[in-house]
Amino acid sequence: MNVFITRKIPQSAIDLLVNEGFDVSVYGKENAASKSILMKQTKEADGIITLLNDRIDAELISNMTRCRVIANYAVGYNNIDIEAADKKKIIVTNTPDVLTESTADLAVALLLACSRRILEGHSIVINGKFTGWKPELLLGVELKNKYAGIIGAGRIGNATAKRLKAFGCKILYFNRSRNHVLEDETGAKKVNLDSLLQKSDFVSLHVPLNSQTKLLLNKEKLSLLKSSAIVINTARGEIVDESALIQMLKEKKLFAAGFDVYTNEPAVNKKLLKLKNVVLLPHLGSATVEARGEMALLAAKNVINVLKGRKALTPVGS
Ligand code: DGY
Repeated sequence: MNVFITRKIPQSAIDLLVNEGFDVSVYGKENAASKSILMKQTKEADGIITLLNDRIDAELISNMTRCRVIANYAVGYNNIDIEAADKKKIIVTNTPDVLTESTADLAVALLLACSRRILEGHSIVINGKFTGWKPELLLGVELKNKYAGIIGAGRIGNATAKRLKAFGCKILYFNRSRNHVLEDETGAKKVNLDSLLQKSDFVSLHVPLNSQTKLLLNKEKLSLLKSSAIVINTARGEIVDESALIQMLKEKKLFAAGFDVYTNEPAVNKKLLKLKNVVLLPHLGSATVEARGEMALLAAKNVINVLKGRKALTPVGS
């Protein structure tokens, strides 16, 4: 049986597949494979490991003749047409848990970078503009005693909330259901979205992208935020009305925002590049040696399990 991997992933996962007797082919280029390459390479594959920026649409899926499993090398799977996969009885898996801590670390890193104006400070020093200590140079804000609003109290939302609790934040969260563990561990309070936006000093997004969360923070919702608020997005760009957010940042209707993800990723709205009150990262949420290694192994194990007739470890929707 053969497995196609749409990009080079940690070798340990490839070795695992080879040791289990699979023929593995990897699209070894730096950038994402084009649709025509994906069409060709996935046509006769028994299993596929995909990246979050591979669009696995209905056309591609209907062209697959043998595929039984698509293992996404990401926790988010909005890049895959799940309905089309279901129709062909193809199991889709993702990589939850193993990237939770890394992504939560990054959300907090972005928040601290925004709240303490780290990039502005860095830029002063590297441009030779540090002329001495000044009482009011780049004043930021403390995290202690501030309200941190967590949108989406799943694994990554919880891990972020716990970190922010340790910094002395008071946690508010918006989620479909109550999260008793989060409440017990952090004293978090469940509120509706409007209250969260009105009250929070920091807002961090942790919902998956789907038809209910697309533009969850639209222009109207964003207008509820305090002008001193900081917004952090390590989830998906399309959850926020990016143009409206940029306009607010430009007009100083927000203190700052940290972006790890963008609406038209990898394209970044040029207006963002002109702003000083932003921190912009190239989708690094899970980018640690630990997380990426575990993600690769989990994706490989999902493929092995399905192709050997066992249950997938982390099918989506589980
Ligand atoms: C994911 O896995 O969905 C994350 O966006 C990676 O950073």
